[in-house]
Amino acid sequence: MASIKRIGIITSGGDCGGLNAVIKGVSREAFSLGIETAVIPNGYAGLYNLVDLENVVFLNAERVSKIEASLAGSEAGHSRVKISKIADPKKYDRIKDGLKKFNIDALVISGGDDTGSVVVDLSAQGIPCVHVPKTMDLDLQSYSVGGDSAINRIAVFARDLKTTGLSHNRVVVVEVFGRYSGHTALRGGIGAEADCILIPEIPVDFDIVYDHMKTTYIGRVKRSDVKSGTYIIVVAEGITNASGEMLYDESAGVDAFGHKKLAGSGKFVRQQLEKRLKRDPEITQFMKDTGMYAPGVYEVPEVREVVPGHLVRCGNSSAYDVNFGYKTGAAAVYLLLEGKTGNTVVDVDGRKIYFEATSEVIKRRGVDVSEIALYESLGFNFGRKPEKFNRVFEEVTGAVPRHL
Ligand code: F6P
Repeated sequence: MASIKRIGIITSGGDCGGLNAVIKGVSREAFSLGIETAVIPNGYAGLYNLVDLENVVFLNAERVSKIEASLAGSEAGHSRVKISKIADPKKYDRIKDGLKKFNIDALVISGGDDTGSVVVDLSAQGIPCVHVPKTMDLDLQSYSVGGDSAINRIAVFARDLKTTGLSHNRVVVVEVFGRYSGHTALRGGIGAEADCILIPEIPVDFDIVYDHMKTTYIGRVKRSDVKSGTYIIVVAEGITNASGEMLYDESAGVDAFGHKKLAGSGKFVRQQLEKRLKRDPEITQFMKDTGMYAPGVYEVPEVREVVPGHLVRCGNSSAYDVNFGYKTGAAAVYLLLEGKTGNTVVDVDGRKIYFEATSEVIKRRGVDVSEIALYESLGFNFGRKPEKFNRVFEEVTGAVPRHL
C-alpha cells in the first residue's frame, strides 16, 4: 500500500451533475482512513499555479458538510486547460513543486476524455493520480457522472416545450450539448417522447425529417378538436449531413482544449424545415383547411429553435449521479492506496471496485446505432429511412455491462 497522507482533488473539463458527490466521496472516504483532502481549484489551471497559491481549502468534516451533493457544478471549480499545451518547458516541475509545497502526495481527478489524457500524462511524469469518469456527453467507454443528470434535464426541457409548441402550433427544435456523441440527445429525446431525434452517429437526410414532420404535425392538428399540434425535434450539436459535413456554426471558435465549439445545429435544422415548408403547396392548403392561414402574415407553420446550452448540465444532479459520484469518488481513494496510478474507477458493484487504464477508458464511444431501429419501429424518427431491427438473443450467464 502506498503511503498517502494528503490527496488533492481536481475537477476538469465541463462541469455537470454528480461532481460534488465525487468530491464528497473522495474526502469522506479519505477522512475515514485518516487521510486529508484538499481542493486544487479550477482544474488544471489551478494545478499549474498551485505553487503560487498561499493556501488551499482542506476538506475537513465541517467544510465537506457545506457541499450539497445534489447540486450540479463543482465546488472545486473547472477550466479547460491541457497541461501538455501550456507553453512552459518547466510545467511538470512547477506542478511537482506546487504539490510538494502543500504536501499533496496524490491526486484524484474527475473529468472526461481530455482530462483523462492529462491523467495519463501526469502519471507518466511520476505524479500519482487516478481518474473518476465525468462527462455529460457519456462518450467514454465507462459510464461517466453527469450523464444521467443531463439526460433527465433534456427530457424535461423537451417535454415542457410541448405546451408552448401546442399553443402556437409550432415545430420546436431543441439543440443540446453532447459534442460528437448522441447519447444524451437520444436518451433525453426518448425520455421526452420527442418525435424526431438527430444524433451525430446518423447522417441527417432533411427530406426524411421533413416528410415525417409534415405527416405527424398535420395529422395532429387535423385530429385535434381545437386544431392544435406540435412536433418536437431534439438535435445533438454534432450532427452531420449525408455527405458527412458537420452542421455547425464555424464562427463559434475553439475552446482552451483546442476543440471546435459546436453550436448552430438547431438553427440549421430550422432553416432546412422552413425552406421546405415555404415551397410546399400542400402546406398552404393545410393552413387554409385548418383556419390558420392569414395572407402575408401567417402562411406556413412556424419553426423555432431553442438552445438550452448550459442549462442541460447545471442545477440539480440526478440521484443516480449522486450515487455513482459518491461510490466512485470513494473507490478512487482505494485505487490510489493500491498504487494504481493512471487508472479510472469504472464502477463499484458490491465489494468489487472495477477499474481500467485511463488510456483505454477515454477512447470515444458513440451510440450503438443497431439499437436505433428498435426506436424507429416505435415511431421515432432519426433523419434516415427507418431500418429493420435485426435482433439477436443472448442469455445472460454472468455480469452484464450496466452503464447507461
Ligand atoms: O463536454 C461537455 C460539454 O457540455 C459539451 O457537450 C459541450 O460541447 C461543451 O461541454 C460546452 O463547453 P463549454 O462549457 O466550455 O462551453
